[in-house]
Amino acid sequence: MTTPKYKIDSFEEYNKEYKRSIENPIEFWDDIANDFTWHKKWDTTYESDFSKAKTQWFIGGKLNITENCIDRHLTEKGEQAAIIFEPNNPNDPNQIITYNQLHKRVCEFANVLVNKGIKKGDRICIYMGMIPELAIAVLACARIGAIHSVIFGGFSAKSIADRVNDAEANCIITCDAANRGNKTIPLKSVVDEALTECSTVETVLVYNHLNTKIQMKEGRDHDWVKTVTEVVESRNSDFPAVSMDSEDPLFILYTSGSTGKPKGVVHSTAGYMVWANYTFVNVFQYQEGQTHFCTADIGWITGHSYIIYGPLSAGATTLMFEGIPTWPDAGRFWEITDKYSVDILYTAPTAIRSLMTFGDAPISEKNLDTLKVLGTVGEPINEEAWQWYKGKIGHGEVPIVDTWWQTETGGILISNLAGITPEKPTFATLPLPGVQPALMDENGNELIGNDVSGNLCIKFPWPGMIRTTYGDHDRCLDTYFSAYPDKYFTGDGCLRDENGFYRITGRVDDVLNVSGHRIGTAELENAINMHPNVVESAIIGYPHDIKGQGIYAYVIHIGEQDQETIKKEILGYVTQHIGPIAKPDKIQIVSGLPKTRSGKIMRRILRKIAEGEFQNIGDTSTLLNPEIVDDIINGRI
Ligand code: WT7
Repeated sequence: MTTPKYKIDSFEEYNKEYKRSIENPIEFWDDIANDFTWHKKWDTTYESDFSKAKTQWFIGGKLNITENCIDRHLTEKGEQAAIIFEPNNPNDPNQIITYNQLHKRVCEFANVLVNKGIKKGDRICIYMGMIPELAIAVLACARIGAIHSVIFGGFSAKSIADRVNDAEANCIITCDAANRGNKTIPLKSVVDEALTECSTVETVLVYNHLNTKIQMKEGRDHDWVKTVTEVVESRNSDFPAVSMDSEDPLFILYTSGSTGKPKGVVHSTAGYMVWANYTFVNVFQYQEGQTHFCTADIGWITGHSYIIYGPLSAGATTLMFEGIPTWPDAGRFWEITDKYSVDILYTAPTAIRSLMTFGDAPISEKNLDTLKVLGTVGEPINEEAWQWYKGKIGHGEVPIVDTWWQTETGGILISNLAGITPEKPTFATLPLPGVQPALMDENGNELIGNDVSGNLCIKFPWPGMIRTTYGDHDRCLDTYFSAYPDKYFTGDGCLRDENGFYRITGRVDDVLNVSGHRIGTAELENAINMHPNVVESAIIGYPHDIKGQGIYAYVIHIGEQDQETIKKEILGYVTQHIGPIAKPDKIQIVSGLPKTRSGKIMRRILRKIAEGEFQNIGDTSTLLNPEIVDDIINGRI
């Protein structure tokens, strides 16, 4: 594959392409989609009705995304690295997996899945560490047409069980344990615990990564390597990709929202593929032969789109890093960058802020001179972190792309194109071709012109958009398409400056963004309220230097224990019901919560207190219990 003709080379071309995408979306997307490998081309480019949350792209087309990510590169790039695996411990052996080897391993594992009775349309949960087998498992699912649902390794047994049950998955793919810095995380035993609450799972495939002691249940659990060997002996190791409909679901990814229960965001095959590829090539200005290092975990959408599907569909070399940025020291990202001559580095503001605190020492011996593009994603980036990234990592020269998007959008929607369109610190800047943002005021009217701020919506369909929430289409309609008629509502606040550049200001709903991870306040409150002595709780986000937002929990607790014990127990409930990522940073035991006369918690007041702003608490006279406010201020931590 040579450089695709839809790669934008100048600001002028961006403007031209943007205009064309609005004026003639059919021609625009037909041209792009024509560059991919299809079993059968589509009949209709798109059909959409936002009032029913219904959008389809490339209708009638037949394809398999893994042929676009692997097979079509084999003639020219068979011996090029598809995946570079850098292990947690820098002294352990790394792995280079060529496109030829990736093809072989994905086909072998696809054979294993089929051999275990898994069929097109079945749901498979994947709960693994960041090892190549995770990418292979994802691609093998896609090859046979099974719908993958990757669950981040930091989620608890209860969270796994909820996701498995919601999707009625019949198979889980896991590994014995995972490495994270100096910790070993037992994954298989967490799966075992989850499975005590799941009746649909018949098969568990276990990759033995660390040789830790695990239980294998006869008949249900199978060793990855052993099954691959058996299947390869009895069958051809090739596996012809199953023909999928453009609109067949490719994957489910669970994400938190304003309500208590995470929802399964469903992405389709063709639209998602085109979007992941188009945005990868254009935003990062990917050039043939480059190595792309996205530091996200495949458990999140960023890993799906910019470790697996975007880079592989473009024939790039994608780097998978098993470890964490600060172990064995805070120079790990920079060491990896030099070791593999990384061209594109894509990370999160929280990682940048955390690495900044270590000063210059971890960078001082590093070259970092192969970097052509730096990217950030997941949360607003503050000016200081942006300048540090630009100056220290980019030598003041390398373009930074600030990419705004969501699990639901499939890929990047608003971002500058590296070195092509202007960058502006703390601004995601301009929408990609095909993306039509709208800012809405509090009366539900669209704000026209520049220098305005409001709630961010998208008013026209794009190929990578969410198709439904698994098993509950009404929820998709309610959550995203009901707030404003005929518009997709993002849940983010946003301003458009005098030049038409967009700056995302953060969530406007009850969702926190902690270290770039989305945490629903209702979900977290539910977990805390499970504690038998907790009467009620309220979760509030507050500004946190490293995490962006920290979690402040106000908890009404009845019981005799001392505060330390209570807090420890609450953290235990959170870890058990959601996972360690949702642990509150601060817990304040209170005797009551400020309520309106209708019984609603006044979160505005709690937010001010958590932020340390007691002077401007505002009007408390409408409260049912105004006296509680002083109590809470006095007990603040
Ligand atoms: C939310 C989506 C997109 C993959 C990672 C997170 C926030 C994301 C930016 C950015 C400001 C950003 C938004 C968004 N967000 N990127 N560049 N600038 N905010 O995916 O878990 O679906 O979260 O992350 O608030 O709604 P997610």
